This record gives sequence, structure tokens and C-alpha cells, in this order.
Amino acid sequence: TEPTGTAPRGGGVGTPGRAAIAAPHLRTDRWWLAPAATAAGLLAFVVYSTWRAFANAHYYAAPYVSPFYSPCLAENCRDMRAGPNADLFGSWWGISPAIIILIFPLGFRLTCYYYRKAYYRGFWASPPACAVAEPHGKYTGETRFPLILQNIHRYFFYAAIPVAGVLTYDTVLAFRDEHYAWGHMGLGTLVFLVNIVLIWAYTLSCHSCRHIVGGKLKHFSKHPVRYRAWQFVGRLNARHMQLAWASLLSVALADFYVYLVASGVFDDPRFF
Ligand code: FES
Repeated sequence: TEPTGTAPRGGGVGTPGRAAIAAPHLRTDRWWLAPAATAAGLLAFVVYSTWRAFANAHYYAAPYVSPFYSPCLAENCRDMRAGPNADLFGSWWGISPAIIILIFPLGFRLTCYYYRKAYYRGFWASPPACAVAEPHGKYTGETRFPLILQNIHRYFFYAAIPVAGVLTYDTVLAFRDEHYAWGHMGLGTLVFLVNIVLIWAYTLSCHSCRHIVGGKLKHFSKHPVRYRAWQFVGRLNARHMQLAWASLLSVALADFYVYLVASGVFDDPRFF
């Protein structure tokens, strides 16, 4: 028999054996601030990136190419520059070429352990915050379709590596001037440099990466190189949330910078 004073039968906080507390929660701080700010930040990025991804314009200002549009895999942007472009999608591809490539970083971030927490809390209130019960009647976690698909995160991590490689190549190309002469630097080069460092730091701080690098080992002492790599990734992993936000901001800023220069708002200030 249930002891007196327990909550009625049901799921979540109504599970038998839990204290019967009438209040929805006992937190007195502004617990809603973090999920609200998270939702606002993510929504702002979704609105901005949707606009830019479908714009199909102002994504190239020599020597810079927007990270949203690289690599270009459609015929409709093949003249963009001498870069890692390939005509995999011919003239039948009529919409923005960004859509082809953005699937990969989008899938990587959408299935990321941190972003999952962020949008489960921010958009689905599942749960809204620590010690605040979720409003939904039942909770099945990620055990069923469609959320069980979150398990493919590791494969998006594999895809994120070549994408980061291409953005690295674009950053190298940014050391040219607008006539493609090497050995130059502009403000855009700095913007790209900051972005690529943050993109790599975020990618390597991935939880799947940490497991790939150091998981399934019985003895670290027998795998000194992997142990070192795992320690390095672990240090980055501790900052995964910060790197997720910083790289999200930097990739949007790098794109916005290209947009401003390409649309003629200002000229890229050149240092040398
Ligand atoms: Fe966040 Fe893999 S866990 S990118």
C-alpha cells in the first residue's frame, strides 16, 4: 500500500512514492529566464539563417564566400570563385545552393546533445528547467520515433568534419585580395579566422567526438596518444555549450559580413 501523503498515481511528479506537493514547483528564482533567452536566441538564428539560405544572393564578395554557401555543389553558382566547387547538381537545381549543404551543419546542430537540451527546454518545456515539472501528460524521452533519430548524431559528426575542412580552405583563400593575389589580409580575413577557430572548437568538443577519440578503451596506459587526444577533447567538451553559442554567432557574423560587402554597404577594410 502507498504511504499516506504521497501524490496520486500518474506519471512524472505524480509517480507513486513522490511527495504530494500542491505547488507546480518550489523554485523562487527566475528559472524561466534561461529557457526564454535560449528560445529567443535560437529563434533569431533560425529567422536569420532561413532568410540568408533562401536569399540566393550576396554570398560572395571576392575573396570571401559565405559559410552558408560553401562548398557550392550546384551549377548555378559555379562561377562564384576558384574554390572547392563541384557541379554535382546541374541546371535543374533552381533554388539556392545553400540548401544542399546546410542540411549537414543543420543536422549536426539539431541532434547535438547541447542543442537538444536547449530546444527541449526552450520550445517544448520538456522540462522547462531543473526541478520544474513539465506540463506534458507523458514522457517517453528519446525512446520512440521521431526523437529516437537523435541517435544518428555521430554520423552528422562525421559529416561535420569535411564541412569544417571546406570552411578552413575558405579561410585560407581569404588571405588573398579581391584580385586573387596572395598574401593579403582584410577585416574579413579576421572575421573568417575567428569563425573557423570556433567552428573547429565546437566540432571537436562534440560528445560523440569525445567517445570516438577515447571511448571503448580498457587501458588508457596502453593508448597514450588517444589518451592525450581524449584529454584535449574533454577540456573542450566541458565548454560545449559556450562553443555552441559562440560558433553559432560567429558563423552568422561571417555570413553577414559577406552580405554587407557583397551588397555594397561598405568595402572590406584591407590591412595589407
Ligand atoms: Fe554537440 Fe556533438 S554533442 S555537437
